[in-house]
Amino acid sequence: MAWKSNAHRYGAVAMAMHWVTAVAILGLLVSGLTMADMAGADPAKQSIVRTHVIIGALVVLLTLLRLAWWLLADRKPDEPGGQPRWQALAARAVHGLFYVVIVVMGASGIATILLSGAGDILFSGAPGPLPDFMRYPPRLAHGLFAWTLMALIGLHVAAALYHQFVLRDRLLSRMGLGRAA
Ligand code: HEM
Repeated sequence: MAWKSNAHRYGAVAMAMHWVTAVAILGLLVSGLTMADMAGADPAKQSIVRTHVIIGALVVLLTLLRLAWWLLADRKPDEPGGQPRWQALAARAVHGLFYVVIVVMGASGIATILLSGAGDILFSGAPGPLPDFMRYPPRLAHGLFAWTLMALIGLHVAAALYHQFVLRDRLLSRMGLGRAA
């Protein structure tokens, strides 16, 4: 498989970045919702938050690399033909918003850790318990954008399934799932 995309399908680099990001974001959503309900003194919370912070920072880094990849090295495949204009515009909007929301999630997460001083507890062995993150404004943005991200994922997956099973145009094969049309 070619490293770069062509008019009909994504290349190996774009596919790898897409699926690694997808799996990591699902993990971040599940770990985020889980730890938000745990008490700061719970020792299990510390290790979940620590993993969440590290994976979250890596996802933001990968997203910036992804942006650079599209801007400097690769070109997206042609949009699927025969779709109404509103669907093409909606797809473009959802894809663009993913980048914005992921970067905002990363920035608000990092700001929450910095403002709350939890970094010392998580990474330098300072004594706990973890602070109540909800006292810091970026944490509120983090929660709000998490729900925005879930809505975008819902739209994105619904559109992919609509193409695959209603229009039967084998769109998923462009991202490496199943045989091409
Ligand atoms: C795309 C990346 C990320 C996603 C999808 C994500 C997802 C989530 C979710 C779903 C929550 C719970 C929200 C709620 O219930 O209101 C959460 C909480 C949190 N996240 Fe993230 N996160 C990301 C990146 C980060 C980063 C980079 C950091 C820090 C460097 C971070 C730090 C936190 C903290 C401190 C909380 C609060 C936990 C609590 O309230 O006890 N997150 N995250």
